[in-house]
Amino acid sequence: MSIQDLEKIFQEKIDNEIKIEPKDWMPEAYRKTNIRQISQHAHSEVVGMLPEGNWISRAPSLKRKAILIAKVQDEGGHGLYLYSAAETLGSSRDEMIADLHSGKAKYSSIFNYPSLTWADMGAIGWLVDGAAILNQVMLCRTSYGPYARAMVRICKEESFHQRQGFEALLVLSKGTDAQKAMCQDAINRWWWPSLMMFGPKDSESTNSDQSMKWKIKRKTNDELRQQFVDMIAEQIKVLGMKLPDDKLQWNEERKHYDFGEINWDEFWNVVKGNGPCNKQRLAARNKAHDEGAWVREAAIAYAEKSKHKKQAAA
Ligand code: 3HC
Repeated sequence: MSIQDLEKIFQEKIDNEIKIEPKDWMPEAYRKTNIRQISQHAHSEVVGMLPEGNWISRAPSLKRKAILIAKVQDEGGHGLYLYSAAETLGSSRDEMIADLHSGKAKYSSIFNYPSLTWADMGAIGWLVDGAAILNQVMLCRTSYGPYARAMVRICKEESFHQRQGFEALLVLSKGTDAQKAMCQDAINRWWWPSLMMFGPKDSESTNSDQSMKWKIKRKTNDELRQQFVDMIAEQIKVLGMKLPDDKLQWNEERKHYDFGEINWDEFWNVVKGNGPCNKQRLAARNKAHDEGAWVREAAIAYAEKSKHKKQAAA
């Protein structure tokens, strides 16, 4: 079959909502785009454990500590499902992890901001996981089968993450003046970086057009960002707090909230490795990898030993 015929069959499958599976023929660019996006997503989950891991030993109660440990563990698990999904496309886990550790691979800009107070744990759950969910619900219907299936379980866990974050902030919002102020301060610091999670404006998004045609993405960056603003602008009323945006206003004609301009210079600066915590995050991941070398060596030695035992018994 000619490449044109193969491409036609491939696009027909996409148009007819038939999932693309690992052994199916696919254009090289489709494979590469999926490896890029899925591995960036996996790295985001793994690096995303760091700002919260920072608060496990300082959680204000046993209950909060148990919730936070479970959440951080979930993020690690999400990273593993996603690395496995990317491996089905022919990229090795070692390669992907080496790219993260060298600073070559991207991961979500949001995890390069510091978590300064306990209220940040609530704001991360509510805003960061809230933004992640909107994007990930769409990805449950992405065209590549293993990615779509991984997202179904991830979304269930993310919705628990978001609710626990909102509930933690709700408690603070009803607390002492100092607790209320801590809650507002965390919202002020995480709001704009959360909006940046959706990526550049559609007009600047290099991958969106092709990814929409291949149904890797089902909604554009701006569509999802608007959906997020509309959702949070209502939820914040329950907290009795304010979003740090003077331009935030319901637009009756558009049936959406208008909102202020994102600082795109800050976004690109963080993406390029110059955010407040980029260096710290990569150093922490590299240290964890180096310190885990003995576990990998032991696992390989055990696998070798088991193989020899089986061969000897055969
Ligand atoms: N941070 C860092 N880089 C970003 C970014 C962000 N917030 N948004 C976009 N970029 C990068 C893109 O990766 C792309 O770079 P590349 O071409 O060199 O790879 C470039 O900016 C241009 O952006 P595009 O809009 O063209 O890129 P995409 O079409 O890939 O869209 C995306 C960006 C919407 C983030 C998409 O990749 C996506 O949906 N990814 C999967 C979901 C994901 O990774 N979420 C991250 C958060 S996960 C999380 O928060 C877990 C939580 O449980 C803790």
